[in-house]
Formats: sequence, structure tokens, C-alpha cells
Amino acid sequence: MKQIAVLASGQGTNLEAILEAVERGEIAGLVVLVISDRAEAPALDRAVRHRVKALFINPREYAGREEFDRALIDELKKAQVDLVVLAGYMRLLTPQFINAYPQKIINIHPSLLPAFPGLDGVEQAFEYGVKVTGCTVHFVDEGLDSGPVILQEAVPVIQHETVNTLHQRIHAAEHRLYPTAVDLFCRGKLKVEGRRCLIIDD
Ligand code: GRF
Repeated sequence: MKQIAVLASGQGTNLEAILEAVERGEIAGLVVLVISDRAEAPALDRAVRHRVKALFINPREYAGREEFDRALIDELKKAQVDLVVLAGYMRLLTPQFINAYPQKIINIHPSLLPAFPGLDGVEQAFEYGVKVTGCTVHFVDEGLDSGPVILQEAVPVIQHETVNTLHQRIHAAEHRLYPTAVDLFCRGKLKVEGRRCLIIDD
């Protein structure tokens, strides 16, 4: 069983999907720690409800990003974490953090990368007028939403829909995709070769 930590700044609906998948036995791992940089993040309440250790680490108590990430790394090491899952975590990780967990940090982004990286991936795609968008689970490297792609799911944009309904359908796709990707990682099924992430067959 792999030990998983989830970092979340907001609602934590992806965290919820992962916690529920773990409880249904669909992920070969356990969420041992949830960390947020926002005290009021609903993600922390979700962790508590699922009896998972929830930690608020206050960025204001640290001199800078390096010191803050050091505190995060210390907690992750204490919890003996094998995988760090970013789920709506709104901070860029320092190189020091990424190097502490090489190819052990994954993120979900609400677009089909490399299209529409950065903030507001759903709005960017909607405004651009694409017919298909979706979501991407990828390894985290030092760039912005630029690491090797693990899984993607396409979501069509329906004519005359609003950005809100598109958001909802992308979120629903995320809730399917992220637990699947976490399980693949936990079962040792992901192999990175350059930019490509291969999924090893059974
Ligand atoms: C998701 O849309 C994800 O793609 C992005 O942040 C959002 C988090 O949503 N990285 P939630 O907090 O899991 O509901």
C-alpha cells in the first residue's frame, strides 16, 4: 500500500473523489495526510470527515516560498509519503520541493494540455471557442502544467452552454480520471520515458 498526501487550497472535490475511491478499495494506497495553505479550505473538513489527518500550514508564518516548502517537505517526510497529489493546490512548488519527490508529484488540470495551461483553464478554452476540451493528469515538473501526461479525458463543448455547465462536466470527468491515475501510480503501472508516460499492461 502506498502512502498518499493530498495538497489542496480549495473545495477539495477531487480530494473527496480520491478518498471515496480509497474507501471502495479502488486505489492501492491510503491517504495519510491532507495539507492546505488556507485555513478555511473545505478540503480540510473533508479530510477530517474521512478521518484523515488534516494540516493547515500558514504561508504567512514563513519568510518565503523556500521556507514554506521546507515545512511542507518535513511533514511529508514525517508521514513517509510515497506520492504527493495536488488537487486544486494554488501555489507553485519550489524546485527544492520537486527535487525532494522526483516523479512522485502529480497534478490535475482542467484542460487538454498543452492547451490552456495556468489559471482558469476552463474559461480560457471556453473563450477561445474550442469544440473539445477536458482534463489532464500529469507529473509535476518545474514548468507550469508542463510535466509528462499520465491520463486525459476529452469533454465536448456544447453549443450555447455556459462556462458554468462546462466547468461542471469537466469536474465530473476529473472525479473519474484522478482516482484512476492515482491507482495506476500506486500499482507501479506508470513508467516515464522522456516526455512520454507509459502505462504498463497487466
Ligand atoms: C480542479 O478543476 C482542478 O483541475 C484544478 O483545480 C480544481 C480543483 O477543484 N487544478 P476541487 O478543489 O478538487 O474541487
